[in-house]
Amino acid sequence: MLSIPEYTSVFIDYLKSHSFNKEPKNLYEPINYILDLGGKRLRPVLTLLACDLFDTSYTKALDAALAIEIFHNFSLVHDDIMDDAPLRRGEETVHEKWDINTGILSGDAMLILAYQLFENYDGIVFKNLAQLFSKTAIEVCEGQQYDVDFETRDDVTISEYMKMIEYKTAVLVGAALKMGAIVAGASEQCQQAIYNYGRDLGIAFQLQDDYLDAFGDPETFGKQVGGDIIENKKTFLYLTAVANSSKNDAKELEHFFSIAPVNPSEKIETVKQHFLDSGAAKATEEEIAKYTNQAFTALENVDISEDKKELLRIFGKGLMKRTY
Ligand code: IPE
Ligand code: IPE
Ligand code: MG
Ligand code: MG
Ligand code: MG
Repeated sequence: MLSIPEYTSVFIDYLKSHSFNKEPKNLYEPINYILDLGGKRLRPVLTLLACDLFDTSYTKALDAALAIEIFHNFSLVHDDIMDDAPLRRGEETVHEKWDINTGILSGDAMLILAYQLFENYDGIVFKNLAQLFSKTAIEVCEGQQYDVDFETRDDVTISEYMKMIEYKTAVLVGAALKMGAIVAGASEQCQQAIYNYGRDLGIAFQLQDDYLDAFGDPETFGKQVGGDIIENKKTFLYLTAVANSSKNDAKELEHFFSIAPVNPSEKIETVKQHFLDSGAAKATEEEIAKYTNQAFTALENVDISEDKKELLRIFGKGLMKRTY
């Protein structure tokens, strides 16, 4: 087993050795740009780690890890178009630096490049990886569509929101781990249990992403703080604030989430104050801890040593302290 920073560094070296120096430049440059911008590399590290957890060299999982990271970055390029986001990892988004058509086509190519990497696996491993990938990718699309649909709905429930984030974000974290387990030939029970760990961690991860979108430090967050408020995203923060506020405050919140002012700073500040005053910010922190602990419970069904489980718990706790 390696340490988390070591898996990250091994993965980055592998990614660098796969940069796309091809024509046409306007297709491949944005792909290299987004993949080189950095990010936490959370998902590919989990793929490599999972493979080692089940006693198979992580080197066998490098292509699956790369596929997951390319798919993740594809989803970000298209997500930034859909969310009208100017910043990603502290730099211009692809559609801002180039244009929307470039973001669409380079994104499409990334999705295909990700799929192609599974061709490096044989037989049943190939089939299982491709099957899991297709199922996961279509769920991500479903989650993303719900996310957009919710922007213009005023009757979204917390359980609809939970389903939406499970699909748009959590299933990919689960799949990242399960792919490592598939490459390692782990039992189906272990594959499912490690998937459940990742899925619950992924739910906590998206809750925190939403929290940081409102309360993150612009210096470290790397994205436009308040972007979800500008876009009227129906997050756990917002839904809980509406549910826990007086009638008047709830009305004001709902009003703000039905408009798109040219200068959004007053909207952002007022809404954030409601998130704090209503207890929604605190409730979100509690929900993050709840899902992180639920992820740890899933480890009971993973057949690995206590030391290895502790590593996965340290990883989960570390995510709760993140600032970006
Ligand atoms: C951003 O994912 C999209 C979400 C699912 C919240 P990350 O926060 O993992 O993004 P990077 O790759 O580290 O930049
Ligand atoms: C994104 O959710 C999930 C996917 C990209 C599939 P967000 O829209 O919250 O992600 P960020 O905050 O832009 O990274
Ligand atoms: Mg977004
Ligand atoms: Mg989005
Ligand atoms: Mg976000």
